[in-house]
Amino acid sequence: MTRAYRFLSPIVLLAAVCSWTPPSALAQGNLNVYCSVQAEWCQAVANEFQRQTGIRVGLTLKGSGETLAQVAAEAANPRGDVWFGGTGDPHLAAAEQNLTLAYKSPNLDRLHDWARRQAEQSGFKTVGIYAGALGFGYNPELLQRKKLPPPTCWRDLVKPEYRDEIQVANPNSSGTAYTAVATIVQLFGEEEAFRYLRQLHRNVNQYTRSGVGPIKAVARGETSISISFMHDGVTEAVAGFPVKIQAPCEGTGFEVGSLSIIKGARNLDSARKFADWALTAAAQKLGAESKQFQVPSNREAQLPPQAPRFADIKLINYDFAKYGSSTERKRLLDRWEKEVNSQAK
Ligand code: G6P
Repeated sequence: MTRAYRFLSPIVLLAAVCSWTPPSALAQGNLNVYCSVQAEWCQAVANEFQRQTGIRVGLTLKGSGETLAQVAAEAANPRGDVWFGGTGDPHLAAAEQNLTLAYKSPNLDRLHDWARRQAEQSGFKTVGIYAGALGFGYNPELLQRKKLPPPTCWRDLVKPEYRDEIQVANPNSSGTAYTAVATIVQLFGEEEAFRYLRQLHRNVNQYTRSGVGPIKAVARGETSISISFMHDGVTEAVAGFPVKIQAPCEGTGFEVGSLSIIKGARNLDSARKFADWALTAAAQKLGAESKQFQVPSNREAQLPPQAPRFADIKLINYDFAKYGSSTERKRLLDRWEKEVNSQAK
């Protein structure tokens, strides 16, 4: 502190510091964003939108299933304006429950077909901002120490040798885990899928709240294997952790990560402005800059070189209409709770 400042009271000093605000940051309104991607990306999006527009962004970070529950609970008195990211199924369920607002952004025609389809399917109440394929992550050092082979197929995960070696999130709170349940149902048929999920239950050491919890546990050497979006495994590998990813041999599901404007948003103009901006290539670049490796929905946005390539992964024809419907979602989650989660191991 310089000598001159020493004679000023702390209150005057604080006022002097606070009154210096860069012109672009002068508040032009507020925007409350519910964010269901990784924290680094949420923060980058909030900072950059605020820097460009002067709109002050408040962030709430929660998983996809948890955000759907929050938006539903707040329906009579909404506190959020926009829901950014998270798997597409719960965004579709929110649209169907009339919790989100239709909006046709002028930037829609800059998007890949799969992202526009998400919008059309919901009466324009949600839109795709990225895509990512589901797979496994594993820690090769830990597996080697335990003399276990890396898994290559969904069927491998239920082998007795992987007892307590696997982590996956809870599908109630996590869109990643809901995508996994819906994928297994689509791959094997529902009865066989629940038999499989009960067998898998014996090998799961923990159902985490958030979808990225398991791959972070793999990175830290706390569990050998996770069921995760493959791009989340790349994030850990790029950060220097011993993490490898695998696309399941039988085929796998994928997400259309989405954005929705919340019905009753108090800052509707800002919310629309944010939606338009989030669909631009420049805004989508913030994902890769935050070391997130999904496929961006804007056709001009670059796919980072480290990102998993969809062309190399055997994908199922994921039925978003069915698994994004509220009744199907609730039915599957209730069944999972009763027949899997509540069972002894
Ligand atoms: C991570 C992934 C996103 C995904 C999200 C879902 O952030 O990078 O692609 O949409 O998880 O989170 P959840 O906690 O709902 O599984």
